[in-house]
Amino acid sequence: MNKDNIILGIESSCDDTSAAIIKNGTILSNITANQDVHNKYGGVVPELASRAHQQNIVPVVDLALKEAGIDTNDLSAIAFTQGPGLLGSLLVGATFAKSLSLGLSIPLIGVNHMKGHILAHFIQKQGEEKNVPKFPFLCLTVSGGHTQIVKVSAPLKMEVLGETIDDAAGEAFDKAAKLLGLPYPGGPLIDKHAQSGNKDRFKFTFPKIEGYRYSFSGLKTQFMNFLKKELQKDENFIENNLNDICASYQAHIIEYLFQKLKKAAFNENINQIAIAGGVSANSYLRNKLQELGKKHGWKTFIPEFEYCTDNAGMIAITGYFQYLEKDFAQQTIIPNARLKIE
Ligand code: KG4
Ligand code: ZN
Repeated sequence: MNKDNIILGIESSCDDTSAAIIKNGTILSNITANQDVHNKYGGVVPELASRAHQQNIVPVVDLALKEAGIDTNDLSAIAFTQGPGLLGSLLVGATFAKSLSLGLSIPLIGVNHMKGHILAHFIQKQGEEKNVPKFPFLCLTVSGGHTQIVKVSAPLKMEVLGETIDDAAGEAFDKAAKLLGLPYPGGPLIDKHAQSGNKDRFKFTFPKIEGYRYSFSGLKTQFMNFLKKELQKDENFIENNLNDICASYQAHIIEYLFQKLKKAAFNENINQIAIAGGVSANSYLRNKLQELGKKHGWKTFIPEFEYCTDNAGMIAITGYFQYLEKDFAQQTIIPNARLKIE
């Protein structure tokens, strides 16, 4: 009997098809196929996403196993993203994982994608002893679909202290980028242009909203009106000021994210602070967290770039924690587009 815990993780919640192998908490492979089909539409087209997942899933899993040097017979369990995400996309990963677990007679594990983003902090690499957050810690999870402040008391014990009531931070980046004529996803491009821009040049406002909740939908309208007004004065306003616009807009979003996070850290008396999700790849967010960490005596945790955006490594590590708890799913499990953390 093999005593190693070897988990195959499968992620297919949005537009990335990904498979990873984690052995006893250490990552052996993490393969992701991105889908270029969406680029010309300026956003993810759900129907095209599920079709591309169907094409990609077998070669991606195959490559993940090969790169890890693992045979399917070595696997202890199969973990897949149950939700949240696009239903058609989730279905591809879920169906594949169910069939494989049935065929191999090994446990099936349904993983919450948002927990995955957070637990990516615990992925160990071979020959490397990574510093991981101590419990309890706070995690600001910022992605294309979510913006949450989560209190993590144990690997599988999480509580959402507050979240956005409308758009996510990633959407705020992507929608503004679209208005600026930048291709999807625009977040990384705003980040790039912002690096040579002046963040204090333009000012925006945010709605006053109670507690640890966020709201981003009004910012899009504000940004649109701002551009319209400036373009009336100078039709080349965007071209002439792109870097400053990006820097100002980006800084505004990040400052807002930290306003609430600082409040939560103070009120909960927690000094272990992490960030996660696609937007945690943002350089201003990463630098600002370190700066605030020094100022407030926080121990800060910033995920490596490869584990910020959607990847199966984060699903495999969460599956690993669930495996240790024997938190297994039945074959009757179905994907849930709106799966909650609790
Ligand atoms: O976590 P993720 O890969 O997918 C979801 O679960 O949504 O996050 C994708 C989001 C997109 O909105 C993308 O624009 C944003 O993360 N993003 C960034 C950066 N890299 C990715 N936003 C700002 N700056 C970045 N460097
Ligand atoms: Zn995600």
